[in-house]
Amino acid sequence: MNLTDELQKRKTFGIVSHPDAGKTTLTEKLLLFGGAIQEAGAVKSNKIKKHATSDFMEIEKQRGISVATSVMAFEYRDKQINILDTPGHKDFAEDTYRTLTAVDSVIVVIDVAKGVEEQTEKLVKVCRMRNTPIIVFINKLDREGKDAFDLLDEVETMLGLKVTPLSWPVGMGQRFQGVYSLYEQNLILFSPHGKQEEEGIVKITDLQDTLLDQKIGKRPADELREELHTITSVYPEFHREDYLKGAICPVFFGSAVNNFGVRELLDCFVDIAPPPLSRETEERIVKPDEPKFTGFVFKIHANMDPKHRDRIAFLRVCSGVFRRNTNYLHVRQEKYMKFPNPTAFMASKKSVIDEAYPGDIVGLYDSGNFKIGDTLTEGEVLHFKGIPSFSPEQFRFVNNTDPMKTKQLNKGLDQLMDEGVAQLFTKEDNGRKIVGTVGALQFDVIQHRLKHEYGASCNYEPVSLYKACWVSSKDPAAMKEFITRRKKDLAKDTDGKLVFLAESAWTLKMAQENHPDIEFHFTSEY
Ligand code: G4P
Repeated sequence: MNLTDELQKRKTFGIVSHPDAGKTTLTEKLLLFGGAIQEAGAVKSNKIKKHATSDFMEIEKQRGISVATSVMAFEYRDKQINILDTPGHKDFAEDTYRTLTAVDSVIVVIDVAKGVEEQTEKLVKVCRMRNTPIIVFINKLDREGKDAFDLLDEVETMLGLKVTPLSWPVGMGQRFQGVYSLYEQNLILFSPHGKQEEEGIVKITDLQDTLLDQKIGKRPADELREELHTITSVYPEFHREDYLKGAICPVFFGSAVNNFGVRELLDCFVDIAPPPLSRETEERIVKPDEPKFTGFVFKIHANMDPKHRDRIAFLRVCSGVFRRNTNYLHVRQEKYMKFPNPTAFMASKKSVIDEAYPGDIVGLYDSGNFKIGDTLTEGEVLHFKGIPSFSPEQFRFVNNTDPMKTKQLNKGLDQLMDEGVAQLFTKEDNGRKIVGTVGALQFDVIQHRLKHEYGASCNYEPVSLYKACWVSSKDPAAMKEFITRRKKDLAKDTDGKLVFLAESAWTLKMAQENHPDIEFHFTSEY
């Protein structure tokens, strides 16, 4: 098969949701359809979220599981589908943001009873920044929940998405009878924990057909007719191009745990989801069908076993063909490297591969050469965009509690930052180090891993900060003045970029007003 054929075969996507909406269950059902797993319960995924634990031993265990489920690939209708797992726990939101840079589309799962939740909002915002094509799956229709029209309104207003339903529920909870697929013009009848065999599907092209009344009863049938009429008059007709541009999101209804509505979702996904897309670099746009290989690292996973310090860097192939044992340029390090054991992930099985194509994710064993965002090419100097750091939400000073282990502490901190566990800022005035994270959990993770993997120990000291903003200016004189005046509020990130540490929303506002020539950025990419 040539590059074009391989490209057309691939669909790389992520499933995002607020914890408990049903992401893991849906993933599992998709894998079952694809024959990648044989029984339910095989995907444990990142269950850290489940207990909202502050117990880091639990996290350590989960890290082992989540590396196996980081990428799950399966074949369905001659397509190779790559699902990238995203941690559900909010403290790991930044991991999820980065993973979203490596997908070409997403499926958003929403709980019918809970509607749009906080984490869904945050994640969809990141997708919208990049116009990522989105399909919405409204889950748990076997339970009582919100009215379907109200939910669509909620999705439109809270997530800022334009939607059009491609399936529609008949009843809900106790009265749930199935869904009508506007995409396939079928009525699919629901049986709890059913396999959704073919006999549950009734082909109805004309909604006036009395077969509809026979199957679901006269009243529900009339209601359905009315609702479908409203849908066709209120919501836009579905066009794939609009979806691909991120301008419209098709919506499906179902019940993942009952394996209901999942096949319809998957079939439509396979028809409409984009093949590997182009990616922006600082230098130019890279197209997937370019013959030369390029790729970037979006995630780094450390080995849990302290005796084997190697890590796995997850690389998304963006163009050309990645080949085993071939020399590639590590752009940041300006050196050539080759990889004897690149790994692919098929569900929970890992295997060494000889080749990988755009859209594929390759695991590279790494002894500390990689950092999130690193680019590999055949020689061209490129820097892929879209892997920013976001301003952390929690900050603490780090103190070294074992001066004999300073070297280990610094090395450990550097490597953990490369992995993207947290962000480290070094203050300009006194050189003190501040760790910034999205959630409180990472502080425990860092302390624990420094001790167990690097033999270093630290403690934290509270520091009252509101935001870290990257600063820039077109006017060097203004920048110089800003640096002189605000030295005590300035720090450098691990890339040496200047960051303003704002104590409160008010100090930030004042700084913005007093220094109009300085730009304050809330992500590291500007
Ligand atoms: P997540 O990855 O998004 O966090 O959600 P997950 O799939 O783990 O699902 C959260 C809970 O919701 C699970 O129940 C799961 O069984 C349930 N669930 C998923 N889909 C449906 C559905 O269509 N209908 C109903 N009624 N429930 C659904 P749990 O009791 O928390 O866990 P488990 O013991 O069942 O694994």
